[in-house]
Amino acid sequence: MNSPIAETQGDIDTDIDNDNLNPFTMILPQDNDANHATRQQQQQQLYFLQSINSNVVIRQLPSQGLSFQLWPAATVLVTLLDSTRGGLTSPFSDLLKCREKGVGESLPLRILELGSGTGVVGIAAAAILGAKVTVTDLPHVLPNIQFNVDANSQVLEKQTGVVDVAALSWGENLDMEAVGRDYDLILGSDVVYHDHLYEPLIETLRFFLLGGGKKIAFVMAHLRRWKKESVFFKRAKKLFDVQIIHTEPPSNGSRTGVVVYLFTAKR
Ligand SMILES: C[S@@+](CC[C@H](N)C(=O)[O-])C[C@H]1O[C@@H](n2cnc3c(N)ncnc32)[C@H](O)[C@@H]1O
Repeated sequence: MNSPIAETQGDIDTDIDNDNLNPFTMILPQDNDANHATRQQQQQQLYFLQSINSNVVIRQLPSQGLSFQLWPAATVLVTLLDSTRGGLTSPFSDLLKCREKGVGESLPLRILELGSGTGVVGIAAAAILGAKVTVTDLPHVLPNIQFNVDANSQVLEKQTGVVDVAALSWGENLDMEAVGRDYDLILGSDVVYHDHLYEPLIETLRFFLLGGGKKIAFVMAHLRRWKKESVFFKRAKKLFDVQIIHTEPPSNGSRTGVVVYLFTAKR
C-alpha cells in the first residue's frame, strides 16, 4: 500500500523482545547529528487524499515530544479511510455507512478520536467522509491540533467536514462526560505504549463502548513494540470483542507491521 505521506519519516526503532528499554528512546525516532537540526524545527507533512483529490497539511513539532509527531499507525488509518471513500473495499466499508435521517437524507457520521497527537487522523476523516469529528488529547497538545485544524479549514469546508478539538485525558470522568457519547465510531492510532496508560485507556473504552445504550465501535491502529503490550490486549479481551480487521506488511527494516483492531461490546 502506498503511503499518502509526502515526506518519509525514519522508522521507529522496534525491539519487541526487550521490555526493559526506555519507552521514550524506543518510541521516538533516533536523534543523531544528521537529523538533530531538523528535529528542532517545525516540520510540515502533506497527505494527498486521493478520494477527494486534496491535500491535508500537518505541522509537527518534533522537539516538543511524541504527541507532536506523526506515527506510522496514523498513516495507515488515513490510507484506509481514503481507500474506503475511493470506492475500494476496506475494513471501514461497513462501519462507515451514513446514518439515515429520512428519505434520501443522511446525517454526517460522528467520530471521536482518542490521543490524536497532531490531529491528522481526525482531520483526514472529517475531510474524506464529510464527518463531524471530535479530536481529543491532553490539554497541552491541543494548541497544535487546533493549528492543524485551522490550516485545513478550506478543505474541511469544501468537503463539509467539521472538526472540534477537546481535552480528554483517558479515564477522567469529567472530560469523558463533557465530550458525550453521541458517536458512531471511535478512532485511535498508536495509543498503546506506556504501561501506566493501559488502564486509563481501558477505562475510557469502557465508558464509550459499554456505558451508553448505543453500539459504538473503536478502531485502533497499532504498531507493536513491546511484549508487555499483550497485557493491554488480554485485559481488553475480557471486556470487549477484539478482532483484527487489517494487517499492514512491515515497512522496510521493521519486524512487524501496523495492525488495525476493531473493539466492540461483547455480544
Ligand atoms: C504515540 S502518540 C500517537 C499520536 C497520534 N495518534 C498518531 O498516531 O500520530 C500517543 C498520543 O496519546 C496521547 N496521550 C498519552 N497519554 C494520554 C492520556 N492519558 N490521555 C489522553 N491522551 C493521551 C499523547 O499525547 C499522544 O498524542
